[in-house]
Amino acid sequence: MCAAVYVLSTVTGYVLTSALLLKCPTLLHRRKRETFLSRHISHRGGAGENLENTMAAFQHAVDLGTDMLELDCHLTKDDQVVVSHDANLRRSTGINAYISDLAYAELPPYNCKLEVTFQRECFCEGGEDKRIPLLRDVFDAFPNTPVNIDIKVNNDTLIRKVSELVAKYDREHLTVWGNSSNQVVKKCYKENPRIPVLFSLPRVLQLLGLFYTGLLPFVPLKEQFLEIPMPSIITKLLMRKALFNHLTDRGIQVYIWVLNDEEDFQRAFDLGATGVMTDFPTRLKEFMDRNGISKIQ
Ligand SMILES: *[C@@H]1O[C@H](CO)[C@@H](O)[C@H](O)[C@H]1NC(C)=O
Ligand SMILES: *[C@@H]1O[C@H](CO)[C@@H](O)[C@H](O)[C@H]1NC(C)=O
Repeated sequence: MCAAVYVLSTVTGYVLTSALLLKCPTLLHRRKRETFLSRHISHRGGAGENLENTMAAFQHAVDLGTDMLELDCHLTKDDQVVVSHDANLRRSTGINAYISDLAYAELPPYNCKLEVTFQRECFCEGGEDKRIPLLRDVFDAFPNTPVNIDIKVNNDTLIRKVSELVAKYDREHLTVWGNSSNQVVKKCYKENPRIPVLFSLPRVLQLLGLFYTGLLPFVPLKEQFLEIPMPSIITKLLMRKALFNHLTDRGIQVYIWVLNDEEDFQRAFDLGATGVMTDFPTRLKEFMDRNGISKIQ
């Protein structure tokens, strides 16, 4: 009897503490300092409005007032960090070659038309700019725009070079980097812990486990950004406003990708996401303007 009461009160105490800390996380954790906040994020620079990952796309997005550019990095044979999505160039240029097998000067231009990965049966017709840019070009052109860097290969030289560029351009406070692989994220964090990292996929699953068992409020987190794919059924079922609020109260931003229509924009902001990543920056901008979703800052 006594033991039962003890267990019951302990469990009740745990549940209450967990609930309290879920709502007021700063009682236990120091809030991470956000050096920027992004609501409007242009996926590959806005792959639905310009050729993905080109300077023309990034310029268009920045002119629109995007809060952040999302882009992907690879390493060429001559160790240049380039901004491009696939390891192989066939889809984007028609040439069946790997970026890692070519020197920067040998990279072919993009096709005139590219399929938009996250929009069914949609092709984007580009303008003049078909060049695969260097990461350095992006940093030179947009010194004040936050950038989300996906490290596309598990390659130590790539990670070191990106870190060096970010440090050289004094952009540690304007950068987040990572990959779905936990190994890559660990390497990034080890290479330069001053650059904030994303949750890798295994860490997202761990985060959900902690949340649903009530343990999350007690656990310290090193990541500063949660990026989750929303159109998938699983994330729709698992993601909760209470989780997003808890994370954002701890200074961890929540970005949802890749959303291209208004219904999805609305749902993401209703759920308490910090920002939305889109292939159509103009569409998202108009939606935000019309619905009074202001820029933060
Ligand atoms: C990293 O990439 C460079 C350039 O493509 C290549 O020479 C090197 O072998 C790669 N390193 C690893 C560990 O894969
Ligand atoms: C993570 O890296 C792997 C290769 O290590 C790559 O295939 C994948 O596209 C990357 N994912 C992201 C989200 O950058």
